[in-house]
Amino acid sequence: MSHDSPGSLHASLASRTVLVIDDNEGVRTAFDVLLSLHGARVLTAASPAEGLSALARQGVDLVIQDMNFRREATSGAEGIALFRDIRARAPHVPIILLTAWTQLETAVELVRAGAADYIAKPWEDARLLTSVRNLLDLGRARAEAEALRSRRAEARAALAERFDLRGIIYESEAMQTLVAMATQVAHAEVPVLITGPNGAGKEVLADIVQANSERADRPYFKVNLATLPHELIEAELFGTEAGAFTGARARAGRFEAADGGTLFLDELGTLAVGSQTKLLRVLQTGEFERLGSNNPRRTHVRIIAATNTNLRRAIRDGSFREDLFYRLNVIELEVPALSERREDILPLAQHFLEHGFQLSPEAQDALLRYPWPGNVRELQNAIRRACLLSGERAIAAAALNLPAAPSVPVEEPDLDRASVAAALERAHGVIAHAARDLGLSRQALYRRMEKLGLKTETPRAPPAP
Ligand SMILES: Nc1ncnc2c1ncn2[C@@H]1O[C@H](COP(=O)(O)OP(=O)(O)OP(=O)(O)O)[C@@H](O)[C@H]1O
Ligand SMILES: [Mg+2]
Repeated sequence: MSHDSPGSLHASLASRTVLVIDDNEGVRTAFDVLLSLHGARVLTAASPAEGLSALARQGVDLVIQDMNFRREATSGAEGIALFRDIRARAPHVPIILLTAWTQLETAVELVRAGAADYIAKPWEDARLLTSVRNLLDLGRARAEAEALRSRRAEARAALAERFDLRGIIYESEAMQTLVAMATQVAHAEVPVLITGPNGAGKEVLADIVQANSERADRPYFKVNLATLPHELIEAELFGTEAGAFTGARARAGRFEAADGGTLFLDELGTLAVGSQTKLLRVLQTGEFERLGSNNPRRTHVRIIAATNTNLRRAIRDGSFREDLFYRLNVIELEVPALSERREDILPLAQHFLEHGFQLSPEAQDALLRYPWPGNVRELQNAIRRACLLSGERAIAAAALNLPAAPSVPVEEPDLDRASVAAALERAHGVIAHAARDLGLSRQALYRRMEKLGLKTETPRAPPAP
């Protein structure tokens, strides 16, 4: 009777409720027998009014409805009215229309208006069962997804009620776990190491840790170790004494300024080994000296560090001190790449949309298919650009200007010489800035520049002391 294996068909229909609305008793009985045989619970109604009252009283998973309810009627008008009533009362219940061959046009129109399917009378049992089964499976999957979404929304709301989540947006289980962990470790005084690829949200997570710590109201400073020349990093961190080098004035460093508070050390993996030693000392003893001074000072700072480099590999290479790593890595929060938590893509995209803009369904598909090598930052840039450039309020897929989705996820976006050159120009030659702008790692940008024959300029950033 059916092309499907009886077992799985039964699994789809068992204990699901199907409401059949047809004035013809023979039709009602035929459906009752056929669907009950496969385990469904079947309700029958002889008129639209009876059908609507059954719909209101019972948990109906699927409706099968006729289009004409009186012997002399053939226009289908009653069926259309019934369809609209059901849609209005139970928008998510799928409806199969039973229609005469002469009224296929109406049926097709109603499918466009949201009917799930139509079946011409006299129907074929196999075709009908396949349609019923698919719709029930779909409905179950949708209900499960909906239940999961609302459980997650509850978990998110519960967390947001107890903690300051700094406006972070997520939907995925992975981020829920991570954010919950960040709020839990916030109270401990221990260092936190946040790892993850470029633009994935490491800094957002650092802010959550700080905002929920005992030090929330104390000083909070951020130092990006990648954007400062090596010579200036130690001055920035530890301060200088007048005359430490030509032109140096007495100046407190970040460790002094953040005393009692929190210091966010971004791009930790770029710190030179010599500076790592000084950092380790202040972490172990709370002691440091300003550059050009032998006078030890004390400070009590909580460190949150972030890196996109694999520090374990750097330890093996000898470019990162193992003892420093274990000092900082008391708690590690690992932010997954956006491509590993695709449920977050659309909520984030919605969040980044300018007021009044929407994403067309094609644009949403394109966002979901794209591998996002530059993670959330790249998504944010893409949405902002689309809002700026889109003539329409409904953003089309083309307005996102995403590189054609490759069949295998790529590591780096495809960039031409002009856009790399433009990014370098905007960043005044500071590689870290240009790389961030392009959603690349610095190493990837260097490689790209080499390939494109672009010279590495010395940064025009602060002059070395
Ligand atoms: N879950 C999120 N919800 C809302 N905004 C986010 C989220 N994740 C990232 N962002 C935004 O995306 C941008 C990049 O995030 P962030 O700076 O935290 O990334 P990162 O991992 O520190 O990147 P990098 O390694 O390049 O420093 C920021 O503008 C941030 O506000
Ligand atoms: Mg960052």
